Order: sequence, then C-alpha cells, then structure tokens
Amino acid sequence: DTPQYTPDDIFGFEEVPHGIDETHHIAADHNAGILIRWGDPVLPGAPPFNVLEQSAASQLAQFGYNNDYIGFIPLPYGSNASDRGLLCIHHEYTNDDLMHAGMADADPREFYTRRIAEISMAAHGGTIVEVARDGNGNWQVVTESKYNRRITPLSTTMSISGPAAGHPRLQTSEDPTGHNVMGTFNNCAGGITPWGTWLMSEENFNFYFIGQPSDEAEAANHERMGFPAGRAYPWGAYHKRFDLAAEPREPNRYGWVVEVDPLDPASTPVKRTALGRFKHEGCENALTKDGRLVVYMGDDQQFEYLYKFVTAGMVDAGDRAANADLLDNGTLYVARFEEDGGRWLPLVHGQNGLDETNGFASQADVLIEARRAADILGATPLDRPEDVTPSPATGKIYVALTNSKERAPEQVDAVNPRAANLWGQIVEMEPEGGDHGAENFAWTLIVKCGDPRFPAIGAAWHPDTGENGWFTCPDNMEVDAKGRLWVATDQGSGWSASSGGADGLYALATQGEKRGLARRIFRAPIGAEVCGPCFTPDGTTLFLAVQHPGADGTKSFKGFERTSTFEDPATRWPDFDAAMPPRPSVLVITAKNGGPVGG
Ligand code: FEO
Ligand code: CA
Ligand code: CA
Ligand code: CA
Repeated sequence: DTPQYTPDDIFGFEEVPHGIDETHHIAADHNAGILIRWGDPVLPGAPPFNVLEQSAASQLAQFGYNNDYIGFIPLPYGSNASDRGLLCIHHEYTNDDLMHAGMADADPREFYTRRIAEISMAAHGGTIVEVARDGNGNWQVVTESKYNRRITPLSTTMSISGPAAGHPRLQTSEDPTGHNVMGTFNNCAGGITPWGTWLMSEENFNFYFIGQPSDEAEAANHERMGFPAGRAYPWGAYHKRFDLAAEPREPNRYGWVVEVDPLDPASTPVKRTALGRFKHEGCENALTKDGRLVVYMGDDQQFEYLYKFVTAGMVDAGDRAANADLLDNGTLYVARFEEDGGRWLPLVHGQNGLDETNGFASQADVLIEARRAADILGATPLDRPEDVTPSPATGKIYVALTNSKERAPEQVDAVNPRAANLWGQIVEMEPEGGDHGAENFAWTLIVKCGDPRFPAIGAAWHPDTGENGWFTCPDNMEVDAKGRLWVATDQGSGWSASSGGADGLYALATQGEKRGLARRIFRAPIGAEVCGPCFTPDGTTLFLAVQHPGADGTKSFKGFERTSTFEDPATRWPDFDAAMPPRPSVLVITAKNGGPVGG
C-alpha cells in the first residue's frame, strides 16, 4: 500500500538558484511571508518590541530568539484542521552581539550585565502561539489566544519524572528533592506526540555553565558532556546554579527530553528521564504495530550515537489523560550499524555490562550517563546525528548525519564513509517487518552530500540532480502529506564553506526511479540556517524557521565583509530597517495556486 509519487510531484516547483545574499528566496510559483519575528508579541498585553529598551520582562511576553523546531497541533484538538492550530516553537540559543547595540566592541565581562543575561534567558526555551487563516486566507498570530505561552529557563518551573527523578545526582541546593527544575534551554529539533503533547529536546547544555567542575564523582560524566565549555553564556554570574563550582550537579538536570501539554496553559512541563540524557536532537515518533510509541533521537556531536525509546504501554488514541505518563516507562535503545544490517541495543541496568562493575548502580545511572552506557554496548559512533524522521507513508526512517570534520581515515566505516566529512549524508533505515518496535533493521545511504561536480568530494546523488539541487549538512527533516521528504540545511558557523552558498530547504525523492534526486525550494539570507519545516495536515502551508540571520557573515562571493554585530550585521533581514538588527523569524510558505507546497 506504499504511496508512490510521480516525478512530477517532486518537480512541481521552480527551483531556486544557488547563491548567497541579504534576503531569502522562494520558488517563483510560491509565496513566503513573515509570520512572527523575535520580539513580536505572544502573550496578551505584551509590550511592542523596542530593541534599545529591551528587558527580561518584555522578552518573557514576546517571541524568543533563534526559532528552531516548529510543531503544529490542529485546533480544535482532534480535528485535521489546516486553517487553525497551535505552533510549538523552540528558541534554541541567543546571538547576544546581534541583539544588543554596543556589545561587539565592549568587554563582555562589563557588557554582560544581569539585564543582558536575563534577556538571553527569557529569549531561550519555547513559544506556544495560536495561528489561524483570516478571511483573506492569510495566516495571522492570534495574540489574544488563551493558549499562548512562553516557556523559558527564567520563568517556567518543571518537574522531573522517570527512573532518574529524585536521584541524589539530580539534587542541588535549590532543589534538594531532585524533582523540580527551572526551565529548559538549547532546544533544537523536537516532536509532537499522537496525544498532542510537545517534546522539547535539550541539546548543547554545556555552553551555559561557567566555572570549573568541583565534584570528583561527576568528573568523567561532565568531561564526556563537554564541561567546562570554552565559551559559555555568563548566566552563572547572576544565577549561581549555572556555576559548576557552586552547583556541580546542576548539569545533570539538563540533556533530557521535556514533555509539554500545549492544550493546558497552566500545565507543568515534565522532564522524562526514561528517554536518556545526552545532547538531544529531535523527538520525532511513530507507533509500533502493537500501538506503543517509539521516539527517535540523535545525539548531535561528532562520534556520538542514534537512540530510540519504546514505551512499555500502548498509546490510547481516545483518551489523552491515559497517556499522561506513558513516557516514564519503556526501553531506551542505541543503534549499531554493520555492513549488512543493524541492531538496536537495549540500555537496561544489569544487562550486558551495565552494572556495578562499570559504575552503574541503577537504571538512573545508565540514563544519566547514556553515552558511556552506549560505549559499553558497542554502539556505532556517527557523523553528528541531527534530526531523525520516520515516514508515515513508508515506515522507513531518515537520519541526517550532518558532518564530522574530525573523522580520520582509519575511522571510516560503512555508515560514515568519508574522512574529514564536511558535507554529511542521509541514512535510510527500514525496521524489520515494517515494525518500529523491531530490534533489527536494514539500512542504506540514500545520498552522500556535497557538490557532485568534484569527484574528490565523493558525493552521491541521482544523476539528474542539477547545480541548484545538491546540498550539504542536512539537519531538520519533515515528510509532507504526499510522503515526500524535505531537508533543511545548516552549514554551521564559519560561513558557507561546505557549499559556497546559503543554507536552504530541499525536496528529496526517496522512492521510484528519481530516488536520490534533490531540488531547492527555498534559500536563506546570509548567515542563517533553515530549521523546523512543518506542514499543515493538508500540505498547503509550510511553516519554516530562519535562525540567526546575519550571524556568519564572513566574506562571501558577493563581497560581504565579516560582520556579526548589531551595528553592522551582514543583513538586517527581514525588516531591512537601519535601526533594527536582523531578526530570526518564522515564515509561512504557500503555493500561488493554493495547492500543496511543492506542487
Ligand atoms: Fe541544534 Fe544539532 O543542531
Ligand atoms: Ca542551530
Ligand atoms: Ca539542528
Ligand atoms: Ca546543525
């Protein structure tokens, strides 16, 4: 019953040319409009954005910075509506030098006052905002909606559940119970569960702690997670919990998956420790044949692993409340790839060396140090696993391995086939028997990214992929209503070195004779990456996040000089107002003929 799309489905838009400049570009037969920008009102009564007079209090009521993942929950809940819903949006991090006038030339120790630190904190986390099409069919933010909410590390109390909740390794002086934590940050890709909750990942949490680790018992754990970070946000100068010397166990309270109920604005978000602690990238999910939920999760760092969590209980499709704590019980697995197949290895205390002999006294220890547990099981180190997207159309799973500059020639293997890999690859996995609960899987590389015109790069695409279709550094992915895969790219800081052009959004054929053929529908402004592609159920609207415009403005082919400050950014997208810095924004993309995005 696999839907087979025709080549025309993939080619139903006019491709955007390769290049890089100050603004975004959308296929000529599509429209792209701005829906919401950093600083726009979210909560009723939010003050208008005044960039020179910004405060944490204002920011807590306004749209945050660096929009990343976007999830869509149709309203009314339970409907398949494509004209009204809730957007659940991550705000991954802040570019403070682009947000505040005068910061670039200042001594950061003097400039980074409590005011700046708390604006940064208030601009992190997430936003829930109701959106709807107006009488003209244009999407608008519903600013008076009762659902609108900001979730931040400055303001949102969360609880901790699952096997590690309350463990002494999660106890701090502010929370001697180990059950309560203030907020979440560095939330990257994410997911929406079948019962309409939002899963927020916690990714590069090590960049938020100052000071030297002072707890010998946590030394190896902290080192594996990248502590102390060379450059950290100085929040810890004003909030002691972010100072490792004072609170050496606070980092154990981050690196989890947070579940939020957007339909209840008063609900307390919950960190679900059963899903493990690492640098979480994404929480897309699917059902097993017997109705349990499987959450796929990358750990985005060079030589780290791919995980899945399978719930013990079954999803109750008719009763939201019955699923409230489903994510607290189940099995976390890590992937091993071999030449002729792969296997999911369970991270269960007491099995396969995950016991006292290796320093794991309980399942809580296994989860807190999931990376070290995965080492012992023999998991396969990957080229930075980013988003993982199961296709509802085919049951196959797509894994973006974005790049890995440090892979040495002797570390090359079948799934990571290139050393000094600047370009990345996409893995296609097929669970045995078409069941996401299976422990065995088949796998193949659907594309090896990079410019196919240079054989030394070793790229692999469908031969019809043209000069504008190939890409590098796949990151966020989404499958649309027609079962087509869409890939957003992130070449990272240090500018567009791996492609010579801006990041973008691409359609990638995964089936039929055009399998492996890519085409570009959208190109980002200079310095930006593209995140969070999200379709309405009918596929006629695509919400797309443009993150950190103007941030990476090293000299480009068009002669931009390296600039990355409020005063002289590489672009002032999307306002192009001399008094306004560039602003991360969510776009609404529609086809001019009103049909599905992408044709
Ligand atoms: Fe936040 Fe892995 O990108
Ligand atoms: Ca990013
Ligand atoms: Ca990402
Ligand atoms: Ca990335």
